[in-house]
Amino acid sequence: MQLFLDTANLSEIEEAASWGVISGVTTNPTLVAKEKGMEFSALVQKITALVDGPVSAEVIAIDAAGMVKEARTLAALAKNVVIKIPMGTEGLQAVKVLSSENIATNVTLVFSPQQGLLAALAGATYVSPFAGRLDDIGHDGLDVVADLVEIFESYGMDTQVIAASIRHPLHVLESARAGAHIATVPFGVLKRMADHPLTEQGIQRFLADWESIQTKG
Ligand code: E4P
Repeated sequence: MQLFLDTANLSEIEEAASWGVISGVTTNPTLVAKEKGMEFSALVQKITALVDGPVSAEVIAIDAAGMVKEARTLAALAKNVVIKIPMGTEGLQAVKVLSSENIATNVTLVFSPQQGLLAALAGATYVSPFAGRLDDIGHDGLDVVADLVEIFESYGMDTQVIAASIRHPLHVLESARAGAHIATVPFGVLKRMADHPLTEQGIQRFLADWESIQTKG
């Protein structure tokens, strides 16, 4: 399983990359809007330079032709750019065209296994079921992740499942158990995954015991 970082913040990407645990980055217009003052193409280029793996950049157009046009421009920015396309019939058309041009795509805003299946059939490289947003409205978001993993494995489909809209470390564990190829994780969640109160307590005790030897000696 791989972890992507779900952010457009350069400091967060730089720090997480230094830990050696992230294989890619996903952004979306909401995350990009938080990075005030950065022009979108320049931001995408900076992110692609910080990570070797796939960097998802989302199109804004809502019609297939517009999505394809934006996608070609974004894809030309760096070889590791992946085009994030919103799910829907226009999105599917765009994915079909982009896939024929060998431009990698990540179909986003997937909330059902049926949507994910259509995206894969259209040629998506990745599909992103939004676990957290489904949980928010009383569904089990991880069910969609697990269903898509099972369907793609059953039929030998190459499309990879990115568990998205991850809200807490348990979501990451559940995504791993469900067989998700990737989970895309906000920086705060990634940091919490590294922490454990017993680890901190253990370090403090080791330090205190070591210190007591030094003073006695
Ligand atoms: C990633 O691809 C998604 O855009 C992101 O995980 C959405 O997360 P949110 O539901 O917390 O906005």
